[in-house]
Amino acid sequence: MDAAAGIEVTGVRRAFGSVLAVDHIDLQARPGEVTALVGPNGAGKTTLLLMLGTLLAPDNGSIRIAGIDPVAAPREVRATMGWMPDGFGTWDALTVREVLETVGAAYRIAPTAARARAGELLELVHLGDLADRPARVLSRGQKQRLGLARALVHKPSILLLDEPASGLDPRSRIELRDILRQLAASGATLLVSSHILTELQEIADRAVIVARGRSVAMQDLSSASSDQGSRQRVSHWRITSLDPPRLMAALVHHGVATQPLTDAVDVEVAGDVAASELLAVLVGDGIPITAFAPSYGALETAYLAATEDRQ
Ligand SMILES: Nc1ncnc2c1ncn2[C@@H]1O[C@H](COP(=O)(O)OP(=O)(O)O)[C@@H](O)[C@H]1O
Ligand SMILES: [Mg+2]
Repeated sequence: MDAAAGIEVTGVRRAFGSVLAVDHIDLQARPGEVTALVGPNGAGKTTLLLMLGTLLAPDNGSIRIAGIDPVAAPREVRATMGWMPDGFGTWDALTVREVLETVGAAYRIAPTAARARAGELLELVHLGDLADRPARVLSRGQKQRLGLARALVHKPSILLLDEPASGLDPRSRIELRDILRQLAASGATLLVSSHILTELQEIADRAVIVARGRSVAMQDLSSASSDQGSRQRVSHWRITSLDPPRLMAALVHHGVATQPLTDAVDVEVAGDVAASELLAVLVGDGIPITAFAPSYGALETAYLAATEDRQ
């Protein structure tokens, strides 16, 4: 096993009878990063994740999870991989704590250790207060968090999460982001799907856009994350001002690459430090700035272009 290898998918295809669910997907997800798999409903995200998760065999192409082929060695892949399905399944009769202990037993973790691990995970996902309630009484957001804890029981180094942010309120989504960022910072490889672009912009380091079963674009989102590596890369920022003409004039004067929008302007700068310097210069010039935030204009454009002819 080679955890540093992350996830590598090349030319994967899978049909169900006459339905070509996944036509041709290439992607890489690296350790230490959250990779988003973004595409509209029916794009093939769940089918791809099922193949990565050893639950479905590809018709064509190659998959490596931590260097291992899930078709040839499914058990090894499952030992190193955590899987959070879209939807919760049939665990409703157990209490929240029992769900995690049962999963621990399935991974052959000794009862005492499984109980301790369940306790840790309940803290991590903020379900400690609900530990002894039946899982069936949880709200959708709480079930999502329990689903995440369940995927983490055996401390996997690779995590596949199918629509984990779906149905979460804003607070739970921020907590999810913090947990996923923490797991990435500890070296895990995370692949997270969503059909809603904005759900993942703040969580992911890069995005792979899928449409009609094909991976169509790969986009760096690093201005959204705060790891050291991203500080040097080109980043896009969206600026709004009470006085747009003066803002434009100042940007042009300072030689900044701009893309004017209806009520804002997108700029391209060489990393986070350059962005903070630009903001200081604009404020120094007396421009009334009302917002200065990472822009995902390029990703939005790519997503819309990739998905415009969907039914
Ligand atoms: N078991 C199946 N049998 C037949 N068609 C399927 C099956 N699973 C998925 N599909 C079809 O494959 C396509 C991709 O589905 P899916 O992978 O669930 O997309 P996503 O998760 O991106 O919404 C859809 O057209 C879906 O109806
Ligand atoms: Mg799906």
